Amino acid sequence: MKRDKTTVGRQMIQWAKLHMPVLSQIMSHFSRTKPLRGLQIGAALHVEAKTAVLMKTLIEGGAKVAITGCNPLSTKDEVATALAGEGAQVFAKRGESKQEYYKNLNRVLATKPDILIDDGGDLIVLAHKKPKLITQILGASEETTTGVIRLKAMERDRVLRIPVIAVNDSPGKRYFDNRFGTAESTLQALMSITNTQISGKKVVVIGFGFVGRGIASRARGLGARVVVVESDPVKALEATFEGFEVLPMRNAARVGDIFITATGSYHVIRKEHFRIMKDKAILCNAGHFNVEIDIGGLAQISKKRRKIMEDVEEFTLRNGRRLYLLTEGRLVNLAGRRSLGHPIEIMDLSFSLQALSVEYLAKYGSQMEPGVYNVPPEIDRKVVTLKLKAMGVELEPLTPEQQEYQRSWEMGT
Ligand SMILES: NC(=O)c1ccc[n+]([C@@H]2O[C@H](COP(=O)([O-])OP(=O)(O)OC[C@H]3O[C@@H](n4cnc5c(N)ncnc54)[C@H](O)[C@@H]3O)[C@@H](O)[C@H]2O)c1
Repeated sequence: MKRDKTTVGRQMIQWAKLHMPVLSQIMSHFSRTKPLRGLQIGAALHVEAKTAVLMKTLIEGGAKVAITGCNPLSTKDEVATALAGEGAQVFAKRGESKQEYYKNLNRVLATKPDILIDDGGDLIVLAHKKPKLITQILGASEETTTGVIRLKAMERDRVLRIPVIAVNDSPGKRYFDNRFGTAESTLQALMSITNTQISGKKVVVIGFGFVGRGIASRARGLGARVVVVESDPVKALEATFEGFEVLPMRNAARVGDIFITATGSYHVIRKEHFRIMKDKAILCNAGHFNVEIDIGGLAQISKKRRKIMEDVEEFTLRNGRRLYLLTEGRLVNLAGRRSLGHPIEIMDLSFSLQALSVEYLAKYGSQMEPGVYNVPPEIDRKVVTLKLKAMGVELEPLTPEQQEYQRSWEMGT
């Protein structure tokens, strides 16, 4: 039976919603209370099924929504088509060029949004280049580490003109999405793109932050021998105490079978590393932008470069060794044709935080000074509590004596 794109996209969205109990509750609440009535929301997010459930939640809340991708490869075209049929303006397709990517960001901004939702900071930065528009924006929320770092740099340089809620930095997001979500989806993508084994391989994880820590522990769980590369002493010590081998990149490059970057930094794997890698080493990135692997440098030292499969490019070095780059060095868990992104249940948390942060901006944005804000703790607590409830996990309540004991400085023994 051949199904058209819209039907396939709708089914994907329905399946996602089924596994997003917290966001579904927020959607029902929004539907009754319409907290976003009359607002235009502009988003740059990975256009896939979980994101579509967030967009539908905002629409139920009374908003008009325009969305584009935050990565040229992560759009699921079926979802984009289905979402466009459900009242959102969608400007995204998989495989768009750099020009199309920026054109689409501009098209979202042309809808004169009151609130922005961004993943990586490109939409917010571009909005700042439109002097008239930026003064009308109530605020924004940012989804990922790289975006928050850029926005904090804008705040430091006193050029940030709007309040931004750093959804990424809330415990309800970072402890779960960055760590567990990226770990599962990165390894899922790696396996489905290459169909090669993880167990028994030497997997080099570069960056032992929230994302890297999750990937390292899940790769070990699959039987990989994991090496960690870190530049921060505390993280390096933590990785050592976790039992991982910690090496500088110049040593790790010689031994790795699979390299996964997760730093949010620039050119962490470079020419001097490619030159000493083993034949058939696999390279991929889980950080936000495609700058962690120096692809230009790799091309320069290669005598041959060719696409050998969808999402796999082969570089043959002058020494005859072959290196395989996945998904053009873009985040492997989202940019591959078979990459699914984070598990749905994880995005239930992250996007519930997004929905409630948008509601907060709708209420209070006009009174907030420009700056980068944490998600209000009551929102974080509410989302995490609802998630536990949906999963049937009960907390241990504190007795009155225990509460008193914690409050008191007099009671010792
Ligand atoms: N793929 C996804 O779905 C996904 C999800 C969440 C976050 N991200 C992205 O992943 C990246 C990492 O996010 P995070 O939350 O783990 O950040 P983090 O700040 O917690 O961790 C980054 C780590 O990299 C280390 N590092 C920086 N430069 C390095 C270098 N040259 N060599 C070795 N280590 C280095 C830092 O010391 C830090 O420990 C960001 O770009 C973020 O936006 C991607």
